[in-house]
Amino acid sequence: VPTAVVIVAAGSGTRLGYGLPKALVPLAGAPLLLHALRGTAGAGLAEQICVAVPPGDTELTALCRTFAEELGATAPDIAVVEGGATRADSVRAALAALAPGIVHVLVHDAARPLTPPEVFRRVCDALDRGASAVIPATPVVDTIKSTAPTEGDAAAIAAEVVTGTAVREQLRAVQTPQGFDAETLRRAHEVAAGWDPEQAAAITDDAMLVESLGTPVYVVPGDLQAFKVTTPLDLHFAETFIAAQGG
Ligand code: CTP
Ligand code: MG
Repeated sequence: VPTAVVIVAAGSGTRLGYGLPKALVPLAGAPLLLHALRGTAGAGLAEQICVAVPPGDTELTALCRTFAEELGATAPDIAVVEGGATRADSVRAALAALAPGIVHVLVHDAARPLTPPEVFRRVCDALDRGASAVIPATPVVDTIKSTAPTEGDAAAIAAEVVTGTAVREQLRAVQTPQGFDAETLRRAHEVAAGWDPEQAAAITDDAMLVESLGTPVYVVPGDLQAFKVTTPLDLHFAETFIAAQGG
């Protein structure tokens, strides 16, 4: 089945705090995007990889070009597009650049540099078995509570108070790559393109847009190694992990 992988790499990396787009931040000597490209190409499932880079970028674009040259002609075609202000905007920009005839699309965060090939394979296998949407996920280890800002006298005690506790056994921490039937993902993103800014700001993954269409989103096992580099501690952990692997 003709499959493309969208790699979203257009974020600013504010929480990592490097003053660089996160995809350019080095991990074991190579930018995060290069790790994601190697992992994606290495999984061997895509005939096209479409990377969304920050508007005005030249460095990540050059990195993609060099990577494509190193891969040679038999490897996936690599397209580069300008991303947008939100992750969803970046995905939309990439979807517009997919080759005609692509049937399955995986959307992957550049910020998950250590994602094992098995995760890509599990997602693709579920699509092949007929899913229109599939996400990799892991059990949640922390107890998750909802909170609200405190008011009045309570505000002198603490800024927030608990409003409820979720049933942990039912919760999953969701990773990428998330896989979709291309038409379903396009439709979901078209609908969300019309949302007001407050709703749009609450979009944290692609699957939630497909959920809002009423389409079932299936869940396959993720992998702890597919964790997202968000904070300096995550980057430190990734460095240590690679060093321990001997790389
Ligand atoms: N992303 C993107 N376009 C955006 C925002 C995010 O392509 N406008 C991508 C990021 O590059 C990243 C993935 O979406 O690969 C997950 O986003 P996140 O971890 O939030 O990365 P950043 O937005 O870069 O980080 P921060 O929120 O700390 O600024
Ligand atoms: Mg972000």
